[in-house]
Amino acid sequence: AGGLGQLGVGLAEMLRKQYGTDNVILSDIKKPPPHVYRSGMAMFSILVLMLCLVLAHLYMYLSPIGLHNVLDLALENCLRLFVPSTIGAFGPSSPRDPVPDLCVQRPRTIYGVSKVHGELMGEYLHHKYGLDFRCLRYPGVISVNTTPGGGTTDYAVQIFHDAISTGHHECYLRADTRLPMMHISDCHRATLEFMQAPECQLSLRTYNIAAMSFTPEEVAQEIRKHLPHLKITYSPDSVRQTIADSWPVRFDDSNARRDWGWKPAFGLEELVSDMLHTIRNKRTMEGLHVHSL
Ligand SMILES: NC(=O)c1ccc[n+]([C@@H]2O[C@H](COP(=O)([O-])OP(=O)(O)OC[C@H]3O[C@@H](n4cnc5c(N)ncnc54)[C@H](O)[C@@H]3O)[C@@H](O)[C@H]2O)c1
Repeated sequence: AGGLGQLGVGLAEMLRKQYGTDNVILSDIKKPPPHVYRSGMAMFSILVLMLCLVLAHLYMYLSPIGLHNVLDLALENCLRLFVPSTIGAFGPSSPRDPVPDLCVQRPRTIYGVSKVHGELMGEYLHHKYGLDFRCLRYPGVISVNTTPGGGTTDYAVQIFHDAISTGHHECYLRADTRLPMMHISDCHRATLEFMQAPECQLSLRTYNIAAMSFTPEEVAQEIRKHLPHLKITYSPDSVRQTIADSWPVRFDDSNARRDWGWKPAFGLEELVSDMLHTIRNKRTMEGLHVHSL
């Protein structure tokens, strides 16, 4: 559910390759674009989820009632339930560098509060009734197809588009704001590997997963290795800067690495060259201007 967003479409593609097109059902409140519809079934009715063995629940915000319905459904039907969480589930009183899996979580955004609620409800139902609840805390996820929508880590996608189109990026965070980030293919693979891990290997139900942490200045420096003329100016936005300053600088994901073998494939260098090449190819195909690499 929530399958037509940034993460859901690619995740479904990956699952369909492994489990067959007809065995992966996407649901969302919005209509699928034709290419997604043609690549497999996309259903609108929540009832369909009753037939699934695994339920992945990907909406950004969910009301408590919505969350409780999904949890009940998974429990009654003995489904394995995946719910994504985020770096935003931590707050100013959490340790920041690095943040462990278990620590104080007092986020000050409604996004973070709703994510902590999801983590705790899932874990409660696991301990009380044996629900196979699994939750990953994702860092900022970087992909070409993200439409920046005012999120705190969105600059890290926009900067690549700007580098290629105009050569100038105005950043809404300070140059030294370090946040955990991850390439979307690592995020998809982590989700799949975690969902496939045998239950006996899991010592936790909610895990941090990490790949890299960088600042706007560091990603700009790495982009300049390909596009030396990139100009970046800083005009910090107080709302997003305050949120970023309350979030972890680095994730400690040693439990995920130990329990189910998590290992990212993309570091900053690989992320930058992949993003620049993919955006460049996309723009060239669309007949748009590109700064040469
Ligand atoms: N993208 C990131 O950087 C990031 C980072 C950390 C955590 N996450 C988490 O990962 C999950 C997926 O993120 P995303 O970036 O793909 O989000 P997104 O906003 O791109 O997609 C969410 C999808 O859910 C759908 N949706 C919303 N309400 C729904 C409902 N009631 N029923 C069915 N569908 C509904 C929307 O139409 C949308 O297609 C979210 O839970 C998000 O909090 C994302």
